[in-house]
Amino acid sequence: MSTIVIENLEAGIPGKKILKGLNLSFDSTDTIAVLGPNGHGKSTLLGVLMGNPRYIVYGGKVTIDGEDLLSLTPDQRSKKGLFLAMQTPSEIPGLNSADFYKAAMNAHREKPLTFFETYRLLQDAYREIGIPFEMSKRNLNEGFSGGEKKRNEILQMILLNPKFAFLDEIDSGLDVDALNVVSAAINRQKEKGTGFLIVSHYDRLFEMVKPNKTAVIVDGRVAVQGGPELAKRIDTQGYEWIKDELGIEIEKSDERKMNSVSIGTCAVKVDANGR
Ligand SMILES: Nc1ncnc2c1ncn2[C@@H]1O[C@H](COP(=O)(O)OP(=O)(O)OP(=O)(O)O)[C@@H](O)[C@H]1O
Ligand SMILES: [Mg+2]
Repeated sequence: MSTIVIENLEAGIPGKKILKGLNLSFDSTDTIAVLGPNGHGKSTLLGVLMGNPRYIVYGGKVTIDGEDLLSLTPDQRSKKGLFLAMQTPSEIPGLNSADFYKAAMNAHREKPLTFFETYRLLQDAYREIGIPFEMSKRNLNEGFSGGEKKRNEILQMILLNPKFAFLDEIDSGLDVDALNVVSAAINRQKEKGTGFLIVSHYDRLFEMVKPNKTAVIVDGRVAVQGGPELAKRIDTQGYEWIKDELGIEIEKSDERKMNSVSIGTCAVKVDANGR
């Protein structure tokens, strides 16, 4: 079993803290439902854990089995067994999907896979996620539909067999059949011993993958933690009760944006003379 411990993590972009002292610990035996209102730091957390260079760490500590994670490069984190399925996977023109997957798998192994081993692993994974093997000939995510991109992220998870998988809104854009296929793949991966942080706004995925814990992120911190019943409560009651019961104010992301807009720039009529 592996353990990740996040202590007082402060991180964001240049000049702005998005995570403001976040604490969370989990094991590779855990499947954690990560919820929270839009714009409160869920994707930032997953990006920081994976080492996305767009984020800056301002303070705090993250360890994996006692070893510092934040000093590792993203590829070193991947080799340690971390995996991120992105909320918005990037299209990489010119990069053949099969070549990319082969290179990624070989980067995790001492001895490179043979042509036939690669072919068999890819074919099995494509079958598991229900997309035609022919898609392996296309450039990575280029021109893929929203749902195909999401399935493709799960394909990569299957191929890399991580210790920890961070799934960022993997269910968004999936049709009902695809959601079933993706949940089944997550459940099989759980049986192989992978721990999960699963960000989603909808209970449907959680119904199928049955998280054992829930963490709610509000304003860059874990505001509430609990069991699976906490995810259910949010599904039925939303986030308002957190303010009423715990006194934690929840600023909506549209209010945040409004606050940074000067009324003068959008609501003042100016005549032809600029008055
Ligand atoms: N480059 C940037 N410049 C300004 N603000 C940014 C930038 N990147 C992220 N943010 C802001 O940081 C906040 C947290 O974003 P994040 O993507 O982590 O939210 P989230 O909890 O994943 O939301 P959602 O549920 O909508 O996916 C948001 O308000 C977002 O607009
Ligand atoms: Mg997000």
